[in-house]
Amino acid sequence: MPANIVIGTQWGDEGKGKVIDILASRAQVVVRSQGGNNAGHTVVSGGQTYKLHLVPSGILYPDTMCLVGAGVVLDPKDFIGEIDEMERRGISTKNLKIDPRAHVVMPWHITLDGLSETFRGGNDIGTTKRGIGPTYMDKYERCGIRVCDLIDPVLLEQKARSTGELKNKIITAVYGGQAHDLDAVIAEYKAYGERLKPYVADVSVLTYEAYKAGKTILFEGAQATLLDIDFGTYPFVTSSHPLSGGVCVGTGVGPKMIDNIIGVAKAYTTRVGKGPFPTELFDETGETIRNKGGEFGTTTGRPRRTGWFDAVIVRHSVRVNGLDGLAINKLDTLSGIGDLKICTGYVKPDGTKLHDFPSSLEELAECAPIYEEFPGFDDDISACRKFEDLPETCRKYIERLEELCECKVVMVGVGPDRDQQIERQ
Ligand code: GDP
Ligand code: IMO
Ligand code: MG
Repeated sequence: MPANIVIGTQWGDEGKGKVIDILASRAQVVVRSQGGNNAGHTVVSGGQTYKLHLVPSGILYPDTMCLVGAGVVLDPKDFIGEIDEMERRGISTKNLKIDPRAHVVMPWHITLDGLSETFRGGNDIGTTKRGIGPTYMDKYERCGIRVCDLIDPVLLEQKARSTGELKNKIITAVYGGQAHDLDAVIAEYKAYGERLKPYVADVSVLTYEAYKAGKTILFEGAQATLLDIDFGTYPFVTSSHPLSGGVCVGTGVGPKMIDNIIGVAKAYTTRVGKGPFPTELFDETGETIRNKGGEFGTTTGRPRRTGWFDAVIVRHSVRVNGLDGLAINKLDTLSGIGDLKICTGYVKPDGTKLHDFPSSLEELAECAPIYEEFPGFDDDISACRKFEDLPETCRKYIERLEELCECKVVMVGVGPDRDQQIERQ
């Protein structure tokens, strides 16, 4: 299997970082294709926890090439911070490369993300305020600054000054905010460009060369299907395509290269930020899942909203991503919480039943979940390493998820460590 994609099937934070770290042990190249430092991917190995935002989750393997593709939006300050942190912890970044076409998150993008969220008042999206939306807006407006500009002091000066003047006007005249000191920004970003120059290389070419050489490639998804700008819960989404289809566009490779697509889900559902969430739990069970599962955002620290597993959502993900297999993480979190529920479909106030995830947010907001109940389990499953080791209740739960989601479960997570994973294939 030379080229595999790992993507999120719910609203993010499914444990993609962990699955990628495990699969990266069998890959020579790991590539990120979209998103930015709104992502927070946790890798736990040998008692050490690594929280990665822009650096691909293959970084713990010294010989693995870690590539950041053209579709990523790169905050150079945060990226350099992550590189420094890795090096400080003894993790080499010598095989880390970033595509010159990737767009740069500038300080005005972060300012505008915050100002527009404040302006929306109660109708805010609940973004990570990392400037992700405004950076993608400039990319599509065709006035963005790319990594190839960042590393060229003359181009950077020209582009940052002209765009910066326009952005300052918007910040001050529209929002009444504080203008950025462009001289200071240009000086700061020139230094970032100088620092990042050795990391810049054509990721499309590197990926293709690796593919031709028969190397195993792993494409690392960030965010998730329901945060996709088209197939997610718009407008409560991110500004990129976290779908399997987005991988080719964001990396610069053809779809025929891809062999296997794995979708990651939790054994329940979580979401950070706003928007309808049909299986959300507002009771003690939801609180228990949050505390037991450590459901607090890796990037912003916000408490994650929690709810039962929603098979309508994951079935939608199986279809839009063409999934070959599912990795179900955090089954251990459900131990001891009492009987379990799985949402199999939705019902609307007029009694109409929905099998497929609706396109309209208003329709989703009025949907009530149809549940199937399952006996819970109290066993500590964190030491199980084979599917057969799991208690019967757990196996039945997973097998039912497979039926409802119409996809084989190929991995089951029973703890945060890279060793705490059951593989079925
Ligand atoms: P990502 O954004 O999809 O990479 O996921 P995050 O890292 O943001 O959040 C997943 C959290 O769950 C992290 O704290 C992981 O260490 C943890 N995790 C992943 N898999 C498991 C699992 O099977 N069991 C438990 N208990 N924790 C897990
Ligand atoms: P990983 O890769 C969970 C959410 C934000 C917000 C919406 C838009 O760790 O799974 P943005 O800053 O992207 O404009 O915010 O998207 N969001 C995530 N939620 N996990 C993520 O990434 C997310 N990245 C963005 O909370 O609701
Ligand atoms: Mg995360």
